Amino acid sequence: MCGIVGYKGFKKASKILLDSVRRLEYRGYDSVGMAVLGESGIIVKKGAGNVDKVNNELFFEELEGSIGVAHTRWATTGEVNNVNSHPHLSNNNKICVVHNGIVENYQEIKKFLENKGFCFISQTDTEVIPNYVQYFIDNGESFEDAVKKTLRIIKGSFAVVIMSEDDGIIIGARRGSPLVLGIGFGEFFLASDVPAFSECTDKVVYLDDDEFAVLGDDYHIYDFNTGRENFKKINIINWSFEQAKKGEYEHFMLKEINEQGNTIKKAAEQSIELIREATDLINGACGVFLVGCGTSYHACVSASYIFSKIAKKHVNVLLASEFRNYEHFLSSNTLVIAVSQSGETADVIDAVSFAKKHGCRTLSIVNVMGSTLTRLCSLNIMMNAGPEICVLSTKSYTSQLAVLTLLAYSAVDKFKQAKKLLVDVAGKVNDLINNINDDLKLLAGKLKRVNDLFLIGRDLAYPSALEGALKIKEVSYIHAEGFAGAELKHGTMALIQDGVPVIALNTRGTNDLLVNNIMEVKARGAFVIGIDSRNNELYDFFIKVPGADIADPVLMIIPIQLLAYYLALAKNLNPDQPRNLAKSVTVK
Ligand code: G6P
Repeated sequence: MCGIVGYKGFKKASKILLDSVRRLEYRGYDSVGMAVLGESGIIVKKGAGNVDKVNNELFFEELEGSIGVAHTRWATTGEVNNVNSHPHLSNNNKICVVHNGIVENYQEIKKFLENKGFCFISQTDTEVIPNYVQYFIDNGESFEDAVKKTLRIIKGSFAVVIMSEDDGIIIGARRGSPLVLGIGFGEFFLASDVPAFSECTDKVVYLDDDEFAVLGDDYHIYDFNTGRENFKKINIINWSFEQAKKGEYEHFMLKEINEQGNTIKKAAEQSIELIREATDLINGACGVFLVGCGTSYHACVSASYIFSKIAKKHVNVLLASEFRNYEHFLSSNTLVIAVSQSGETADVIDAVSFAKKHGCRTLSIVNVMGSTLTRLCSLNIMMNAGPEICVLSTKSYTSQLAVLTLLAYSAVDKFKQAKKLLVDVAGKVNDLINNINDDLKLLAGKLKRVNDLFLIGRDLAYPSALEGALKIKEVSYIHAEGFAGAELKHGTMALIQDGVPVIALNTRGTNDLLVNNIMEVKARGAFVIGIDSRNNELYDFFIKVPGADIADPVLMIIPIQLLAYYLALAKNLNPDQPRNLAKSVTVK
């Protein structure tokens, strides 16, 4: 995944592009580059490293001009180095491209262009795009037509921003990867995501697949297959730019953990009509599948317990990437609920597209308005968590749990009860964080050198153990695994020895049985950390979390999110940008 941006207006493009690309760093941060069209033509600066590192070496803001493109890369095709960084230029240096996605047929195109005398200097798939555009222009096409023809030929999923030196315009196009157009007064923005330009405008047009936007003095959007102009709705974004900034916090991760008192409440504030519509889909379906990846998948696992307990309903939970294997159980009576923060995760999009091919009904629970998922599903419930910038999902997880809890209760006509429960729980978040913060810093100091860590929980706390393990390993690089309490003894117990930390996620409902499992690990020397509403003499370290009954998973995860954060700090790691990870994974 990468972040791409384009600017056409009257201000200094390099300043705007630098700010924008910084806000897209969550999409990838192994290389960065910028191209601005100035008086002497297109000038490109690019290099390997994150935005701050490369900017300290290259001084992007030295670029003069009011039209340009920029890119923050997360390598897919071609290793991380200066040459493979974007933007990429055509052989005549007049066409410049930034790209997110994969050109699947690039080898074939490259061969074709090499036969026509074109040279390639990078290992990327992207470089075929500016050269193909140049090829068409050399053969008499206008820039717009050359881009159109190129886009019709390239295969795969992509979002691109293409700038022409001779025409002084930029074109943004997409198929499968996100691209949004921001409309200001006399200026236009193209970006992979709204926070890139939300400081400058709140007016947004979501481009659909196979559309391209031409930005000159005005903007026009066309279907690049038919050439027909599309007149699109301008959306006003409903969150402020401040929400996409760190504010008083040192990191987005900490900010987003702290926002949960508010975001859980917002997630519960759904319109009753929308929830009713979703409930009808659920109750009318013969077979409900919940699909997601990573943290969103864990929210689905949690929901399967909640649906079972509250609605007495069985829902199938699948990793989105495994969904296709259940083909024989899909029909027009099947409902697929796709859960995704970004709405862009390739495996989720693939599962929903597959479901639609089989005639299934589709419902999304999603955070990013206008994302691909929202355009694929027939009904969408927004999580209303505001922009989540840290690569790790924190607030979006508890918002997903909140929406799924609302749905489970609504399935048995108890919407109001669920809303009250969630609002009560949301009201406890700030006190919880204040009460446990110092203890978690202390605990992180104790645990920062361990190699392995295990989490156990039964019943509703089991998915929390899975999610807790993910949080810890993603950001602290400590090997962490979550287990159902009883399962540890079936093999993994062999790893428990003196001092190995085991986090026990305990609730009133699970206490009697979980205590057995705690005793088993204690007998092998484990250092037991209890996350519980009541202390227990078996705990070597205790974190008190108020009991919340069916909403236990919402509160129980917060101490682990904080622990993961403090572990990263204790190990001198950047919690917002863990190695090898990107916020949304747009390749299968
Ligand atoms: C990536 C992120 C995870 C996230 C997962 C699913 O792997 O690093 O934090 O849980 O994608 O993302 P989604 O946007 O679909 O919820």
